[in-house]
Amino acid sequence: MAMATATSTHFLRTSPFQSSLSTTLFFPKSHSLHLKATSMERSEITEEEQVVTPEKKKIFVAGATGSTGKRVVEQLLAKGFSVKAGVRDIDKAKTTFPGNNPNLQFVKADVTEGSTKLADAISDDSEAVICATGFRPSWDLFAPWKVDNFGTVNLVDACRKCGVNRFILISSILVNGAAMGQLLNPAYIFLNVFGLTLVAKLQAEHYIRKSGINYTIIRPGGLRNDPPKGNIVMEPEDTLYEGSISRDQVAEVAVEALLHPESYYKVVEIVARTEAPKRSFEELFSSIKQR
Ligand SMILES: NC(=O)c1ccc[n+]([C@@H]2O[C@H](COP(=O)([O-])OP(=O)(O)OC[C@H]3O[C@@H](n4cnc5c(N)ncnc54)[C@H](OP(=O)(O)O)[C@@H]3O)[C@@H](O)[C@H]2O)c1
Repeated sequence: MAMATATSTHFLRTSPFQSSLSTTLFFPKSHSLHLKATSMERSEITEEEQVVTPEKKKIFVAGATGSTGKRVVEQLLAKGFSVKAGVRDIDKAKTTFPGNNPNLQFVKADVTEGSTKLADAISDDSEAVICATGFRPSWDLFAPWKVDNFGTVNLVDACRKCGVNRFILISSILVNGAAMGQLLNPAYIFLNVFGLTLVAKLQAEHYIRKSGINYTIIRPGGLRNDPPKGNIVMEPEDTLYEGSISRDQVAEVAVEALLHPESYYKVVEIVARTEAPKRSFEELFSSIKQR
């Protein structure tokens, strides 16, 4: 078990405020489940049995019945994770995900209803949260603010309440468009004119980054339902102001972020381009610096 010394400590749950050096890695079921962890404390080495059970790899997906959330759930299940799908309407969820997959559980979770209810939904059996929510167009001009800002803040607070220390947010390119000199970019104007959607998302991002939680913020370009056409291009925050990407690829980046510590505490912007070279997720995430 000599090899376990360096790697298995990553499986131990950490508090939301621990340093980035001690974090949690996720592996699909097919990978090693029983590990003997060696922990070092005040120069003493103590051995403890650390069993990584399937329950330890349950991922909570907020917005699971959305076009991207659905793909996130499907890809997580395909990779051997268990999924707790946070949804507003359980009947709709049963239609979205037909069949009785024992690794898929539905829980009611409206992100506008506060962090206490959300903490009950996420609970301490979830290892990470992937947030794929987005307001649904309505007459309520405050809907983006309620869902994309306060709703996400509620999710982060809920994570802190139940000790979940990994948060992956699907946000958007151009959230910081004003600072990028993109005030007159039609996409920036269009997405803000009804309810300041991008501003709401940026506020939520700021909250996540200050919260101490281990985050990966994914900012995709325009979302497409069709299958991937090009390879993923990943750039640092506030660099991309145009481009699009298949929702399949966005879901893939969110799931791969769980598997790659190179994604920790990072904001990544993604689009797809046919002329771009194919790069591994390790390469993609490693190419972005932490700020
Ligand atoms: N469209 C684009 O081109 C684009 C580009 C960049 C980024 N994005 C962002 O990417 C994310 C995913 O987009 P998408 O188009 O795949 O999303 P979508 O299909 O519109 O799905 C949105 C999801 O959010 C859920 N939701 C809405 N209000 C909620 C609430 N109060 N509590 C809990 N869940 C709630 C919806 O639940 P129900 O199913 O119950 O309605 C749905 O599951 C969004 O944040 C979006 O803003 C979009």
